[in-house]
Amino acid sequence: MATDNPTFPIPAAFPPGLVAPGATDGRPIDGGSLAELPEGTMRRVSVGDLDILVAHTPAGIVAVDDRCPHMSAPLSIGELDGCIVACPLHEGRFDLVSGDTAQMPSTGGLDADGMYHPTWSPAGKDPKVDPPGKKAEARRLTRVRRLHYYPVRITAGMIEVAIPD
Ligand code: FES
Repeated sequence: MATDNPTFPIPAAFPPGLVAPGATDGRPIDGGSLAELPEGTMRRVSVGDLDILVAHTPAGIVAVDDRCPHMSAPLSIGELDGCIVACPLHEGRFDLVSGDTAQMPSTGGLDADGMYHPTWSPAGKDPKVDPPGKKAEARRLTRVRRLHYYPVRITAGMIEVAIPD
């Protein structure tokens, strides 16, 4: 979708390769009022079993799955700082404009390119102990993927988000 309102805030540009499958030719859904989503805030929009995070970043409005690319926690109850959203679990931080991981989760695991990152602890906390076993193996093999995007447009002050039909 394109925007019919060229004034700021506009839908943020996102990497075209990261569009959610089927969303480009999908149908628009109501993403809520733009006026009620000031910069620095975000909301969850749900349709059926699809939960979407709509966020107002300094680069514009973005819509991504409201599922952390690590272990699917809802990003909408995390913290938004500029273009970076912090997950409420495991300290993972994700760039809503580039789709990249800004900080790997504290559990460690694989990044989007398959590179292993060890467990870590926030400053001032004891080192994270990761006892061997199936859970540790699962964390080690969990891949933190890049975000997937849903095209956005602004129409008459309302945010519309394209989702797969
Ligand atoms: S579920 Fe988000 S960092 Fe783990």
